[in-house]
Amino acid sequence: MNKEKLLEKIIIVDYGSQFTQLIARKIRECGVYSEIINFQKIKNLINDKTIKGIILSGGPLTITKKKSVALNNNILKLNIPILGICYGHQILAKKFGGKIKISNEREFGHAILQSNSKSLITKNFFKKNKTLVWMSHQDIVHKIPGGFKKVASSNNSKNAIIVNEKKKYYGVQFHPEVSHTHNGKILIKNFLFRICKVKKTWSLKNQKKNLITDIRSKVKNNKVICALSGGVDSSVVALLLKKAVGNKLTCIFINTGLLRKNEEHEVVHNFKKRLKLKLIYVDASSIFLSRLKNINNPETKRKIIGKLFIQLFEKYAKKIKNVKFLAQGTLYPDLIESKTVTGSPSSKIKSHHNVGGLPKKMNLKLIEPLNSLFKDEVRKLGKELSLSKDLLLRHPFPGPGLAIRIPGKITKEKINILKEADYVFINELRNSNLYNNIWQAYAALLPLKTVGVMGDKRTYEYTCLLRAVTSEDGMTADFFPFSKKFFQEVSNKIINSVSGINRVVYDITTKPPSTIELE
Ligand code: XMP
Repeated sequence: MNKEKLLEKIIIVDYGSQFTQLIARKIRECGVYSEIINFQKIKNLINDKTIKGIILSGGPLTITKKKSVALNNNILKLNIPILGICYGHQILAKKFGGKIKISNEREFGHAILQSNSKSLITKNFFKKNKTLVWMSHQDIVHKIPGGFKKVASSNNSKNAIIVNEKKKYYGVQFHPEVSHTHNGKILIKNFLFRICKVKKTWSLKNQKKNLITDIRSKVKNNKVICALSGGVDSSVVALLLKKAVGNKLTCIFINTGLLRKNEEHEVVHNFKKRLKLKLIYVDASSIFLSRLKNINNPETKRKIIGKLFIQLFEKYAKKIKNVKFLAQGTLYPDLIESKTVTGSPSSKIKSHHNVGGLPKKMNLKLIEPLNSLFKDEVRKLGKELSLSKDLLLRHPFPGPGLAIRIPGKITKEKINILKEADYVFINELRNSNLYNNIWQAYAALLPLKTVGVMGDKRTYEYTCLLRAVTSEDGMTADFFPFSKKFFQEVSNKIINSVSGINRVVYDITTKPPSTIELE
């Protein structure tokens, strides 16, 4: 029998939450193996003695409608601990006679959670009976089911944690898997080790070996091209492939003309000279610009870019014999925001260029070894593969590049203005030793001209938006709290050195409700 089948595990039942894989990765961080199952595909699991606990994810569904999804009886038959999160909390409550209603007060973002009574699930979770949690819901459990007690509440969610200690059923309205919930990992660890008593069997070292073996058995004697952007993800993919298939790999780097200042030269230098990878450099900047001419709609932009990328990869793949595969550094968040992964009803947020932007018909088969991982896990994997620190710590940069940082129509003039502004901003971050404290930072050019005054003259120029966020995985984010001095310096430098901009603004929204990129 396959050894993996014998590993103790946690089953995550996916109801379509944006955060389901985040639950899986938090569990991985604790060294525990987990599997995600779509809620529509739950079968009888009673004979699987390796399942030590069940987590019910959140999701965009509502339990307040007559025809809503109920908790599947096959889950209860297992007679093992259950942790319901957000929507999972609500269906757990409903199953045992609790009442759910649509609240007048939505709770999105941070909320203060007050402890009301003790429980195994909240051991070491609160500080002085309080903690900060991340909420994302409108429905609430307003009547607790029989056999359960209230353990914590927030302003708009009076039954934010409910438990049935005897049955080992736990429901939490907030998201402990999200890094912005303080001590969320402690709550998850309590569930895994104090309640489920599951064993640790997962490690990143094993994961690296498994990924290399998987690639080797998929590629066999064929050749692979790797879509290289110069960022951490595609670099890690290229190194995994180099280890797995050696010189059957050719990397292709496309200059879309939507890259940051000097980026194309840096990428070519890093990959040809430093990592000694076989690299084809394609300057496609004029064709990208002409296809994007007069395009306003963010999704159309993404689709055009995705399609053109693939056309170019296919064109260059034909120049090499026997190429069957295209490898790319798609991460899990790219997948979840572009489409639903397990078939559950998660909402489409945007088409990430290397996923939702791909044409339906493609001649190359995809290899995406990182598609169940998150950015920080990929960075750790990169470290295992000896990727240099400067490459590992680069801020993420999206495939569609500056196109999604210029809302509205894209022109060469706007791209040039933005390249300069972004260059000034990022240099300021580096000079102030802030670059590595920030998960991602960039400048965007808003399609908004306003009046200013410079040297006693009226100006009518573009607005530059600065965005800098802290995050662990790109799924949630908070804006970085710069000092007034930093803002003054960066704003002065941008206005003084970039012509075409007369106003600088800072984006102070979190994700959710915003996203990190503007489009
Ligand atoms: P959002 O804007 O969805 O971004 O909050 C989350 C993270 O994903 C990056 N991003 C992309 N990366 N192709 C990529 O390779 C894309 O199409 C894409 N869109 C967004 C974004 O920069 C952030 O790090």
